[in-house]
Amino acid sequence: MPVSERTEIRVLALFGSPRKTGASSTLHESLLAALGPAEVRRVHLYDAAIHPCTACGHCARRRECIFDDDMTPLYEAIEEADLLSISMPLYFSSPPGPLKLFIDRCQVLWESTRRREGAAKRRWGSLICTGGARYRNMFLPTVTIIRHFFNSIGYDYRREDFLLVANMEGIHGATMPEKHLSGARKLGSALRPGPGG
Ligand SMILES: Cc1cc2nc3c(=O)[nH]c(=O)nc-3n(C[C@H](O)[C@H](O)[C@H](O)COP(=O)(O)O)c2cc1C
Repeated sequence: MPVSERTEIRVLALFGSPRKTGASSTLHESLLAALGPAEVRRVHLYDAAIHPCTACGHCARRRECIFDDDMTPLYEAIEEADLLSISMPLYFSSPPGPLKLFIDRCQVLWESTRRREGAAKRRWGSLICTGGARYRNMFLPTVTIIRHFFNSIGYDYRREDFLLVANMEGIHGATMPEKHLSGARKLGSALRPGPGG
C-alpha cells in the first residue's frame, strides 16, 4: 500500500550512541515523538551483535549475507521502513564503530540495488549527529558517509533532514537546551514523504 494511503508510517530508528540518555539519543526521541502516527522500531546498535563485512563477495551474487546475526532481521526492516532515522555521536569526526559495521553490512542492499532488485517505493532518511566540540567542517565526513549510504540503499533525503549539533560535550537528556529539543521536534514534524511518496 502506498505511504499516502496508510495512517501510520513505518520507522526504523537506529541509535548509534552507547549512551541511551545521551545527547544524540535524547534528540532522536524528541524527533520520534513529533512524527505523528508511526510504528517505530528502535535499534540500539551498541546492543547489537553485527559481524564486520569481510568482502567475501557472496552478496554480489545472492541477496543475502554469509553472517546470520543481529543484522539479518534488519535487512527486511530497512526494506519495509518508510523512514530510516539515524542518530549518532561524532567519534573522530566519523560514525561510531557499531553504526559503521551496520552500514558496511548494507553492502547486501547496495549489490541488490545494483542488480535492480528490491523496493521501488519512496523511502527517506534523516540524521541527528552531535559533536562535543565545534570546529570547521566537523560534520562533513559524516554527512558525506550518510548521504552515500542513503543513496546506495535507495533512500531519499533532504539537506534539512540532517540535524547537526555542535558543542554537546557533557550534555545529556536532563541538560539538553530547549532550542535543540525544539529543533529535533521541528524536524520530526516535517519528516513526511514528499510528492509521490
Ligand atoms: C571516542 C570519542 C570520540 C569523539 N570524537 C569527537 C570528535 O571527533 N568531534 C567532536 O566534536 N566530538 C567528539 N566526541 C564527543 C562526542 O561526539 C559528543 O560528546 C557527543 O555529543 C556525544 O553524544 P552522545 O551523548 O549521544 O553519545 C568524541 C567522543 C568520544 C567518546
